[in-house]
Amino acid sequence: MIIAIDGPAGSGKSSTAKAVARRLNITYLDTGAMYRVITLAALRKNIVSTDDTALAELVAATKISFTGVPPATRVWMNGEDVSDEIRGEKVTARVSEYCAPAVVRNALVEEQRRIGSGCSLVCEGRDIGTTVFPQAELKVFMVASVVERAVRRKKDFEKLGITKTDHELMADLEERDRKDASRSLSPLAKADDAIELDTTGMTLEQQIDWIVERAEQLVVNERN
Ligand code: DC
Repeated sequence: MIIAIDGPAGSGKSSTAKAVARRLNITYLDTGAMYRVITLAALRKNIVSTDDTALAELVAATKISFTGVPPATRVWMNGEDVSDEIRGEKVTARVSEYCAPAVVRNALVEEQRRIGSGCSLVCEGRDIGTTVFPQAELKVFMVASVVERAVRRKKDFEKLGITKTDHELMADLEERDRKDASRSLSPLAKADDAIELDTTGMTLEQQIDWIVERAEQLVVNERN
């Protein structure tokens, strides 16, 4: 079974997707982390996001891997643990730019499909239900008010020692949503057959239960 979880930044995708994967004992794939790794690699090498040739070479030369069981997963770039660095301000501010070029998206989507072939997984991102796994059995599009998303982001950043005002966080989120939803190739979008889940005011536990119940119901329906 493939469970696709899409939605804007801070809508609760990551924590929910990780816990759902754990509860169902299936693979967890964080596609945002893959775009973040490529962004970090490009920034370190001073490659601009318009240089398709250099980006294509970079993507081919950058091995992205994941280890650990959620929530304790780690993200690796050519053998280096970059889990914290890819969540920092520098990468976060530029990732919408580097995830847009076709040379980046096509290669990463191919890799995501390879990881997902033949196994059950929970995959989170922006284009999972529309592009990466349009055949996913369960598609959830998570949304939340920008105020709530900023509160969640603040907590994430605080864990990394970064302090930002609510105003800055809301502006950053809205700007990233705008860029992610307006790019030409597989933008942030709700698939026609996705169920929208507004997590504003919901606890993490409620979000997890909501998805797990639907996934279990699908399994029951398949058996009958
Ligand atoms: O989920 P996240 O915040 O870690 O994602 C980082 C960026 O990557 C986000 O701004 C949009 C992009 N992204 C994407 O374009 N497609 C995906 N499937 C996942 C993330």
